[in-house]
Amino acid sequence: MAPRVQGPGPAPPLSLALALSVALALALSGPSGPPPAAGDPLLEAASRWGWRNVSCPVCRGLFGALDLALQLEPTVARVGRVAARLCQDLRLARPEICRQAVQLFQRDVVSAWARSVLRPAEACGLLLGRRCGHWDIFGDWNVSLPDTPKPPVRPPAPPPPGAPTARLLFLTDLHWDRGYTPGSEVACPDPLCCRGPARPGPGGAGFWGDYGKCDLPLHTIEALLAQLPPVATFAAAYWTGDIPAHNVWQQSRQDQLLALRTVTGLLRRHLGHLPVYPAVGNHEATPVNAFPPPYVRGNQSSAWLYDAMAEAWQDWLPPPALQTLRWGSGLGA
Ligand SMILES: *[C@@H]1O[C@H](CO)[C@@H](O)[C@H](O)[C@H]1NC(C)=O
Ligand SMILES: *[C@@H]1O[C@H](CO)[C@@H](O)[C@H](O)[C@H]1NC(C)=O
Ligand SMILES: *[C@@H]1O[C@H](CO)[C@@H](O)[C@H](O)[C@H]1NC(C)=O
Repeated sequence: MAPRVQGPGPAPPLSLALALSVALALALSGPSGPPPAAGDPLLEAASRWGWRNVSCPVCRGLFGALDLALQLEPTVARVGRVAARLCQDLRLARPEICRQAVQLFQRDVVSAWARSVLRPAEACGLLLGRRCGHWDIFGDWNVSLPDTPKPPVRPPAPPPPGAPTARLLFLTDLHWDRGYTPGSEVACPDPLCCRGPARPGPGGAGFWGDYGKCDLPLHTIEALLAQLPPVATFAAAYWTGDIPAHNVWQQSRQDQLLALRTVTGLLRRHLGHLPVYPAVGNHEATPVNAFPPPYVRGNQSSAWLYDAMAEAWQDWLPPPALQTLRWGSGLGA
């Protein structure tokens, strides 16, 4: 059962490595590297010339070109190679995991960079000052509140004795690991253990699960549901997500959707007509924690996930909630 906001595993250091390597890849694009992308000669010229000499339109033009060049396939691959090397040199994970994680994260991280700190207005505002744009990525910002006076603070009143109550079933962070193997290594060096081949002798992963960096086999989730009190004793179930395992360096969209559909089906079988209110956990996506906002369209949007959720949960959620899910995917009405 993992913390929900920040998934453990290699994601944060790797994002950092990827972020650093955007800058490094540009710096390292020397003669020994692969052929430079379209934005590189421009950038090289600009740095020889000195940023102070660059006019605002030229700066914006350069970063516009850079953003385009960054998102080309060869540039993403080059950034990825530098990130993978950095990940290995800093010993963030085993080389194999570094490679797989970078492969999985590189496209989204590069796009996020191109859309944020490297946007022409932000970057040129930082380099040339306010006359050329506004760098506010890490800045404070003010929120204007309406004139309406704040209502007086009233301490919450507990419900009176005898008020109606409801009994809820609360399920969260099931983290099904398809690779869980009873008897396998519990204390491995990877971000997720209790998987892979069973090892001889005692001390291997337990049949139902284990303490340490381990997720759950499906038979444990099934047994949990099978041993619930009669479903009629609950008014509803809250299910707050995190269905897939923590092997975040190698998850495909198909893996995530298989987990969504398998565990949804399991709940439906065991909970019958009990209303279930599911929510989206940070591990549902791949790359983990990647939830592009609705203005991101096309194959990089969240449509693959949210549309599948709206379909899997259509009997549980009311139409407005399903509409919100699909809206979040950037495709809905
Ligand atoms: C760049 O600007 C500096 C100071 O304004 C000036 O001395 C220098 O000659 C300029 N360089 C070029 C290549 O224009
Ligand atoms: C926020 O409001 C304060 C007080 O009016 C002001 O001093 C500050 O500059 C504002 N900050 C921004 C980012 O607008
Ligand atoms: C969409 O993106 C996924 C994940 O990056 C990739 O596996 C898939 O091939 C892409 N599909 C298309 C049609 O580009």
